[in-house]
Amino acid sequence: MEQDKASSTAYTVLQGTLYTANKSQYASLVSEDVITACQQILQASEIGRARLKQLESKSYNLLASFAEKILMPGITLHYVLRKRYIEEVVREALTDGVTQVVNLGAGFDSLAWRLHKEYSEVNFIEIDHPATNAEKEKALFDTQPENLSLLAIDFSQTDTKGALSQFDRFDPSRPTIYICEGVLMYLKKQDVDLLFKNLKELTGTSTRIVFSALEPMSSANNNTGLLLRIYLKLVSEPLNWTISSTDISEFLDKQAFKLLEIADTPLLAEKSLKGIKHGTLHKGEYLVLARVKEA
Ligand SMILES: C[S@@+](CC[C@H](N)C(=O)[O-])C[C@H]1O[C@@H](n2cnc3c(N)ncnc32)[C@H](O)[C@@H]1O
Repeated sequence: MEQDKASSTAYTVLQGTLYTANKSQYASLVSEDVITACQQILQASEIGRARLKQLESKSYNLLASFAEKILMPGITLHYVLRKRYIEEVVREALTDGVTQVVNLGAGFDSLAWRLHKEYSEVNFIEIDHPATNAEKEKALFDTQPENLSLLAIDFSQTDTKGALSQFDRFDPSRPTIYICEGVLMYLKKQDVDLLFKNLKELTGTSTRIVFSALEPMSSANNNTGLLLRIYLKLVSEPLNWTISSTDISEFLDKQAFKLLEIADTPLLAEKSLKGIKHGTLHKGEYLVLARVKEA
């Protein structure tokens, strides 16, 4: 990833969310406050404004639809389905006594921004590269909210545990849920292992995590193509870590985490698409909910 530029894939998720919201059959899946936040972030930068303009162009929409079919069928709808799932499990965790939400590689996600006013007693922290954080701060933060802060870390270069424990806004005594959405596949295996170890050590047995993982490209449960890998290499965000959903339980076990749920394509569809006519759904990225095992 290019250090001085905001993440290209973070822009792509925002643009894909708005692209989905513009389709009449999916409009009910994206709330007005999500649309407003996406637009506000895109409006704040030249790249973002160009992406907004693309969405208004008929020829861009035709091209995007074709590109999606050959690169990652169903991916733009998938962004919306995965965000709906994450919001549901985070809200459930907050009802269940969790009082801190840390989004790792938050990019331009709007969940913490939207929830920090509703849950004033909950502490929200978002982590990403400095360049991506700076764009988000410029777009959304007139003043620094008391219960939402941004922290700049590169997971492959900085010790997340050290950086978070030195961050005065982070409270290790709070029951915490970590979100890691669309991020782990860009990290090396050793950095993924280290991240789980760090989280467990930081917040102990109260730790929960919801993360997305990617099926290996060769898996029958992955309908993305070779062209996608070439594209991600071109934007300097190559895929590094993939894992089959059948191996997730064992992976978590090694990290002393317990698997609570795997939300794969059928489950995401069951949760959000009942009664909605849809095309090919994305297969490849799935969501995992887990918590640290009791000692
Ligand atoms: C596909 S985007 C997902 C953004 C957001 N989580 C979402 O789903 O809307 C991937 C994000 O991971 C961040 N990221 C990737 N590698 C990272 C690293 N080594 N350290 C910090 N952030 C990283 C990128 O900056 C980017 O914001």
